[in-house]
Amino acid sequence: MQNILVTGGAGFIGSNFIRYLLEHEPTVRVINLDALTYAGSLANLQDLPSPERHIFVQGDICDANTVGELFRNHAIDTVAHFAAESHVDRSILGPGQFVQTNIVGTFNLLEAARQAWLVEKRVDPQTARFHHVSTDEVFGTLHPNDPPFDENTAYSPRSPYSASKAASDHLVRAYNHTYGLPVTLTNCTNNYGPYQFPEKLIPLMILNALEGKPLPVYGDGMQVRDWLYVEDHCEAIHLVIKRGIVGETYAVGGNNQPPNLEIVNTICEVMDEYLPKSAHSPHASLIKYVQDRPGHDRRYAMNISRIQSELGWQPRQNLQSGLARTVRWYLDHPEWVSAIRGREDFQTWMNNNYTQRGHKK
Ligand code: NAD
Ligand code: TYD
Repeated sequence: MQNILVTGGAGFIGSNFIRYLLEHEPTVRVINLDALTYAGSLANLQDLPSPERHIFVQGDICDANTVGELFRNHAIDTVAHFAAESHVDRSILGPGQFVQTNIVGTFNLLEAARQAWLVEKRVDPQTARFHHVSTDEVFGTLHPNDPPFDENTAYSPRSPYSASKAASDHLVRAYNHTYGLPVTLTNCTNNYGPYQFPEKLIPLMILNALEGKPLPVYGDGMQVRDWLYVEDHCEAIHLVIKRGIVGETYAVGGNNQPPNLEIVNTICEVMDEYLPKSAHSPHASLIKYVQDRPGHDRRYAMNISRIQSELGWQPRQNLQSGLARTVRWYLDHPEWVSAIRGREDFQTWMNNNYTQRGHKK
C-alpha cells in the first residue's frame, strides 16, 4: 500500500479512516476524492497527522475523467471506497441520488481500477487492492429469534439506500469473478463516533439534548441496531486490506445490540453526568415518540466470528465507553458542531424530515 485512493474521505467514516491510516502506515500517501456533498466537510480533516501525505481532490466518483486521471497521475495501488449517499431517511425522500452515487459511482471506480491495473498494468495486480465498504443493511431485517447475519446471508435489501448498496456489492464481486479485479468487501453494522453528521441517530440525539430540543424516537423505539465505534471499524478495514483474502467478504460489527430507546436513554444519562447543571437535565425528559420511518427494518445483528478467528480483529470499545467518548467529543468541539448545524442544507433537512412527523404520544 503506497498510494491509496480513499473515496468519500471528507465524510464520517472516511475521515476517521484517513486519520487512522496516516497514524498506522508511516509511508502511505492518501489521495482523498470527495465531492463535498452536504455530508462531506473539510472541517472533518483538520488536525490530520502527517498532513503532507494527504492530497485532497474535490470531485465526483461518477465523473470518469476525474477518476481515470487520479489513477494515472498518482499510481494508485489501493482503493478504499467509502463515498456514498448514506442516510436511509434521505433515500426515502429522494432515491435518485442513491442510484447515481452508490451504483453508477461504484461502477465508474471499478472501471477505472480495471483499466489501470488489468489493462494498462500501471501497478502489479498481485499487490493492488480495491476495498469496498458496505453495510449490514443489504441483508434486510431480522425477526427477534433469527440468528445474526453473516457472510453467507442472502441479500434482501428493503430501502433505496440498502438496495443501492446491495447493487454496488454485486458489481464489486462481479468485477472479481469476471475480470479478476483484486477486491475485498466489508459489510459493517451501524457506526458512531467523532465527525458523524448529525442527521444520524446518535449525534442527532446528543446535539438536540444539548439544546433542549425534542429527541425524536421513531415508532416504539424498540428497533435494534448493532453499534460499532468508528475507530474499531477503521481498524477492521485496514486489516482486511492488508491481510484479507482477495474476493472475500468480512462481516464487521460491535456485538452491541440494544434497542434504540436504550441508546437514547444511555446518551441522556451520559449527558446528565457531564452536564449536571444543564437546564435540560434530566435529558431523558426530552424524548418524544414520532411517526415511524416507512419500511423501517426492525432488527440488525452481525456474527463477526470470521474476522475474529481469521484476522484476530475485535472491537475495542463497548457501547458504554464508546458513547462516553462520543458525547465528550461533541461537547468538546462546539465550532465543528455550529459550522455543520448552521448550514442551510442541514436546517432544510431537519424541517423536511421532522416537521411532518408530529408526536406519536
Ligand atoms: P457520510 O454520508 O458521512 O459520508 C459520505 C462521503 O461521501 C461524504 O464526504 C460525501 O461528500 C462523499 N460523497 C457522496 N457522494 C459522492 C460522490 N458522488 N463523489 C464523491 N464523493 C461523494 O457516510 P459514512 O457514514 O461515512 O459512510 C461511508 C461508507 O460506509 C458508505 O459507503 C456507507 O454505506 C458505509 N457504511 C456506513 C455505516 C454507518 O453507520 N455510517 C455503516 C456501514 C457502512
Ligand atoms: P440511523 O442513524 O438513521 O441509521 P440506520 O437507519 O442506517 O440504521 O438510525 C438508527 C436507528 O435510529 C434506526 O432504527 C432509526 C432510528 N432513528 C430514530 O428513532 N430517530 C431519528 O431521528 C433517527 C435519525 C433515527
